[in-house]
Amino acid sequence: MPPMEIFSSGGHRNLLLEDFGHGLAVQANQHLIVHGKAAMLLDPGGHKVYAKARSEIDSILRGTATLTELFLSHQDPDICAALNGWLMTTDARARIPSLWSRFVTHFGVDRLVADRIEPVEDAGTWVDLDGCEVALIPAHFLHSCGNFQVYDPVSKILYTGDLGASLGMDYWWVEDFDAHLKYMEGFHRRYMTANAAMQGWATLARTLDIEMICPQHGAMFRGRDMVKRFIDWVAQLDVGLDYLTNLYQMPVKG
Ligand SMILES: [Fe+2]
Ligand SMILES: [Fe+2]
Repeated sequence: MPPMEIFSSGGHRNLLLEDFGHGLAVQANQHLIVHGKAAMLLDPGGHKVYAKARSEIDSILRGTATLTELFLSHQDPDICAALNGWLMTTDARARIPSLWSRFVTHFGVDRLVADRIEPVEDAGTWVDLDGCEVALIPAHFLHSCGNFQVYDPVSKILYTGDLGASLGMDYWWVEDFDAHLKYMEGFHRRYMTANAAMQGWATLARTLDIEMICPQHGAMFRGRDMVKRFIDWVAQLDVGLDYLTNLYQMPVKG
């Protein structure tokens, strides 16, 4: 699939790059925000996707814009494993939760480029893309204890990382929310931390003007009704420590 343009207005574009996941690697979405001469790549992925994503981005930007920002929502390998390659072949800064900035270097980050890793403190921040500011909003414990999402006020897209992730379906846009639940529920029950985090996020998300919710895995949610259904579902779902019981016991032998 060629890159999918999910929003375009004036000099502002939001693109979903093809799913480059192959073989054993979990499917992952790479999102790109281009504004004027600047661009931000969200959750760039691991080594399996690096070469292809790199060349696709070059052909999208075609010398008219530069990759200035890399956003890493949290520390997982499907996000950070190829960080060194991205830093070595671009001049971009890498924004990463401060909790993880000294851990991701274990993926192998050259000393020459390490000063472009920029820790984001817990409260989040705004990032300038050639005059357009996007917000890195706190989404801690969803699932990682240091975790951010990106809100783009121009396209009104909220990029939710692992929140909203779905696995196993064959479509890009959720049309039937109830039918989609079977692809999302198991992941959220086990990977998310607790309903308190889900409710806190929902309270913040309801203050934002959102047209689309785009996770890092699987299908996307489009339109205000679908966005509302997703937020309402998140708010009421028991996950993690609320859902799993008897976790802390010795394993059964044999
Ligand atoms: Fe993750
Ligand atoms: Fe992920």
